[in-house]
Amino acid sequence: MLTRITYASTLLSAFAAAVPAPQVSGYTNADAGFPQTPSSQGSLATVFGPDSQVAYTINPPAVPTAPAPPRVSSNVTGATGHGPFSGTPTTTGAEMANTTLAQTIVPLPPNPTATYYNAGGKLLQPAPIPYMPAGGLGTNGTEPRYMVNSDFDFESIALGLYQEWIELDLFNNGLAVFSEEDFLAAGLTAEDRAYIAFMAIQETGHATLLTNMLGEAAPVQCTYNYPFTTVREFIDFNQKLTRWGESGVWGFINHLDSREVGQLLSQSIATEARQQMSFRQMLGLHPQPVWFEAGIPQSWAWSYLAPYISSCPQNQTRLAWQNFPALHVVNQANPNRFSPNDTKPYEVVGNRTADPSKSDIPSDESCVNLNVTGYGCGPAIARNRSEPLSFPGKLVNLIWDSPGLPVGPNNSYVTSTSAGSPTFVAWVSQLNLTYTPLEITGANEGYTYQPAGEVYQGDPAVNDTMFIAITDTDTFLTPFNLSMVNPHVVALGLYQAG
Ligand SMILES: *[C@@H]1O[C@H](CO)[C@@H](O)[C@H](O)[C@H]1NC(C)=O
Ligand SMILES: *[C@@H]1O[C@H](CO)[C@@H](O)[C@H](O)[C@H]1NC(C)=O
Ligand SMILES: *[C@@H]1O[C@H](CO)[C@@H](O)[C@H](O)[C@H]1NC(C)=O
Ligand SMILES: *[C@@H]1O[C@H](CO)[C@@H](O)[C@H](O)[C@H]1NC(C)=O
Ligand SMILES: *[C@@H]1O[C@H](CO)[C@@H](O)[C@H](O)[C@H]1NC(C)=O
Ligand SMILES: *[C@@H]1O[C@H](CO)[C@@H](O)[C@H](O)[C@H]1NC(C)=O
Ligand SMILES: *[C@@H]1O[C@H](CO)[C@@H](O)[C@H](O)[C@H]1NC(C)=O
Ligand SMILES: *[C@@H]1O[C@H](CO)[C@@H](O)[C@H](O)[C@H]1NC(C)=O
Ligand SMILES: *[C@@H]1O[C@H](CO)[C@@H](O)[C@H](O)[C@H]1NC(C)=O
Ligand SMILES: *[C@@H]1O[C@H](CO)[C@@H](O)[C@H](O)[C@H]1NC(C)=O
Ligand SMILES: *[C@@H]1O[C@H](CO)[C@@H](O)[C@H](O)[C@H]1NC(C)=O
Ligand SMILES: *[C@@H]1O[C@H](CO)[C@@H](O)[C@H](O)[C@H]1NC(C)=O
Repeated sequence: MLTRITYASTLLSAFAAAVPAPQVSGYTNADAGFPQTPSSQGSLATVFGPDSQVAYTINPPAVPTAPAPPRVSSNVTGATGHGPFSGTPTTTGAEMANTTLAQTIVPLPPNPTATYYNAGGKLLQPAPIPYMPAGGLGTNGTEPRYMVNSDFDFESIALGLYQEWIELDLFNNGLAVFSEEDFLAAGLTAEDRAYIAFMAIQETGHATLLTNMLGEAAPVQCTYNYPFTTVREFIDFNQKLTRWGESGVWGFINHLDSREVGQLLSQSIATEARQQMSFRQMLGLHPQPVWFEAGIPQSWAWSYLAPYISSCPQNQTRLAWQNFPALHVVNQANPNRFSPNDTKPYEVVGNRTADPSKSDIPSDESCVNLNVTGYGCGPAIARNRSEPLSFPGKLVNLIWDSPGLPVGPNNSYVTSTSAGSPTFVAWVSQLNLTYTPLEITGANEGYTYQPAGEVYQGDPAVNDTMFIAITDTDTFLTPFNLSMVNPHVVALGLYQAG
């Protein structure tokens, strides 16, 4: 194994160096039962080409006769952040329907037609054609229409497009404002920078797809106000932003009227999920310390996103979603520390909910360049933290804003809540919504303890970059009716559990 540690990549050398003497528990012997092929002991390649010439045609059949469809944005380059908005909004508040029918959704019993149960595993209905069981939506030959099909669809995809636009700008912006040396100091190579640039270009495709499914009123690119001043903070912000970007889509995708839109959206959010995992790896976090990714309501995703948009063009299409007051985790665990227990209060770069943790901590407290298994947090395929970022039973100090603050593009949205007294802390992660009691210690101030509890045996529910809210009730909700929590949300925050 050691003879292989000749790769130049930081990722690989850090990974190889981290191979521990004690192996993963449960895997004690190399008991393959077949002989191991010894690795080549010859000298390594030093000349790279010319290669063998493979058979080819000068007229590749895959080239379509028409050119590929245009993108709504070209590749971006250069810094684009513009700081906070300082003007006066020309319009205020969320997009509203002319008529609103009720204040809350009334819970109903299960749909009377949702009764299918197959105890025998045999087909119960005539099959429409061979090898095709009865049922499904959009399976009867109707021509697909890849367009939003309701106000719900329009507003959900428009929200998704606001998210794609910021990602396009953000990934590029970090590359533009930090030097190659800055990235190297954070353990990220030229190849990693090229990867981040590729992710930005992926967003031009996502923005194009969503724009096309909305039509001419699709929201356009805005200008943004970013919180980071170091590469580590940039990466931390990216892993947070893509977490709510991904979870925001999981929250609504199966509620869309248009199955066709859901189909294409899932094919783009699968890419976003990979981006989120990669940014976690670049931060030296466990890439995916959960078994399931959580879904959140649209108004949650919009509440996290809006504070980072400083302004949008004059005729920008506005969103109908709610902006909840911000919830601040006072002792948010700092992933730049080898000992997250030592995180100081307010060790984040600002007071917006998703602001990254400060990376300018003393070097003898930092894990960034620490080459010690279990303590280092430089970029890696996977990291084991000997001291986890958080744990069940951890005291969590919280403060939250009152409603009525201007937020979002041109400060033209206003935070609001319809909830009563703050009573519970809601923890949304994986498949679960868990409540813990909120102990009030002052005006807009209190604490709770991180809950234990598992999704299935062996999978602690609370982990990863996840979502917390202060609520006035502990209503039982599950992933498909989670948005019924919204009228009960006092304030909304992000929690760095692992
Ligand atoms: C980490 O430490 C090990 C053992 O001390 C060393 O072999 C390896 O080169 C170091 N890796 C880096 C990336 O510094
Ligand atoms: C955008 O970037 C990609 C990948 O670097 C490149 O292949 C493409 O030519 C670029 N397009 C434009 C219009 O610059
Ligand atoms: C809503 O009201 C505005 C202002 O009265 C009007 O211009 C618009 O047509 C109405 N929209 C609908 C869908 O009725
Ligand atoms: C085909 O299925 C769709 C739902 O996917 C339904 O709305 C439509 O009525 C069906 N068409 C026919 C001809 O059955
Ligand atoms: C907004 O204004 C710009 C410039 O006048 C125009 O190109 C664009 O089509 C307008 N967008 C909408 C949604 O009206
Ligand atoms: C928002 O602010 C920008 C920059 O000042 C301005 O160009 C734009 O027209 C404003 N948008 C609205 C909707 O007022
Ligand atoms: C972090 O705090 C918890 C709770 O007090 C404690 O059990 C744990 O040992 C601490 N971690 C370290 C590395 O000291
Ligand atoms: C957030 O911080 C900024 C800058 O320090 C300050 O102007 C603003 O009032 C703070 N907002 C809240 C809600 O505390
Ligand atoms: C990594 O974490 C796993 C699970 O917590 C643990 O069993 C294993 O011993 C750890 N390995 C190292 C090298 O720290
Ligand atoms: C999250 O998962 C990682 C990897 O399995 C584990 O080491 C860590 O202790 C977990 N964190 C919490 C808060 O359970
Ligand atoms: C988490 O969700 C799963 C699946 O719905 C459920 O079985 C489990 O009881 C939940 N756990 C907690 C702690 O809420
Ligand atoms: C949400 O769905 C669950 C079933 O998964 C149900 O038990 C619960 O009552 C629902 N909550 C509300 C408020 O309707």
